[in-house]
Amino acid sequence: MVQPKVIIHGGAGSSLKGKGGVEIVRRELRGIVEAVYSKVSAGANAREAVVLGCQLLEDNPRFNAGKGSVLQSDGQVRMSASLMDGTTQRFSGVINVSRVQHPVDLAAFLQSCDDRVLSETGSADLAREMALPIFDPLTDLRLREWMQERDDNFQRSMAGVIAESEAPETARRGTIGVVVLDSQGQIAAGTSTGGKGLERIGRVSDSAMPAGNYATRFAGISCTGIGEDIIDECLAAKIVIRVTDGLSIAQAFEKSFAEASENRRDLGAIGIDHTGAIAWGKTSDVLLAAYHNGEAIGDTLELAPGTETGFG
Ligand code: GLY
Repeated sequence: MVQPKVIIHGGAGSSLKGKGGVEIVRRELRGIVEAVYSKVSAGANAREAVVLGCQLLEDNPRFNAGKGSVLQSDGQVRMSASLMDGTTQRFSGVINVSRVQHPVDLAAFLQSCDDRVLSETGSADLAREMALPIFDPLTDLRLREWMQERDDNFQRSMAGVIAESEAPETARRGTIGVVVLDSQGQIAAGTSTGGKGLERIGRVSDSAMPAGNYATRFAGISCTGIGEDIIDECLAAKIVIRVTDGLSIAQAFEKSFAEASENRRDLGAIGIDHTGAIAWGKTSDVLLAAYHNGEAIGDTLELAPGTETGFG
């Protein structure tokens, strides 16, 4: 039997300090880590535990995924999510799905299908096939933020969102993600997002690509930040392949984040390897991540701004 491990994130971006945000976000993230850790400790496999974690984060309107997703340039919510089972090394996902409560449920359903990544029309068909109830993920806050952008004639290229803020005066990026190692030593990773916000119709997020979410039996990674930066680094797959080829997860994070920093990327990532080592990294000011290492819960909410990697 292996000691289960859990790490989750609720996005990356600029400082929450002074906005009263740190303690609220800490409480929310730690509660979700507890719930996922309890499930995997009770015998659930990594994939089941990842789906639960993503559902709980999608349900929380503070985070930019599921309920609380940001609006695109045309004022619509379109969400993307993916799931990767490291044991079967199988990736599945949905891109730009609307009007569902848990985009991760569609990704989970697709794990056993021949066609495993669906775009907008296919995702809508699948939601109907699964008989999922129609769900409107729009919140008043996100609508107000979009209307403010419209009043400002859409000066910004993306929404100002990371967790909750009533005053998004600086650019922030949001996504949610979960990585779990279960008691059988199996790893899974899941990622879900409302996207950057204000993006043009048809833009595809990294969250439903192996660049943003990837796992083998050696490691699992979920990314957050600007999707284009994550894609350009191919960050999740790169870190996992480095671990699969023999680097420790610490070395893989250090090397990959040194490269991301050199390339002036704006992103973050969380991961777990097959030895149970937990890791996180960021080039942004903050990374909203929390983890359970089998003994205690920790988080990354008060790291120094700038590039940093850490291990728990
Ligand atoms: N990382 C989320 C996005 O840019 O869509």
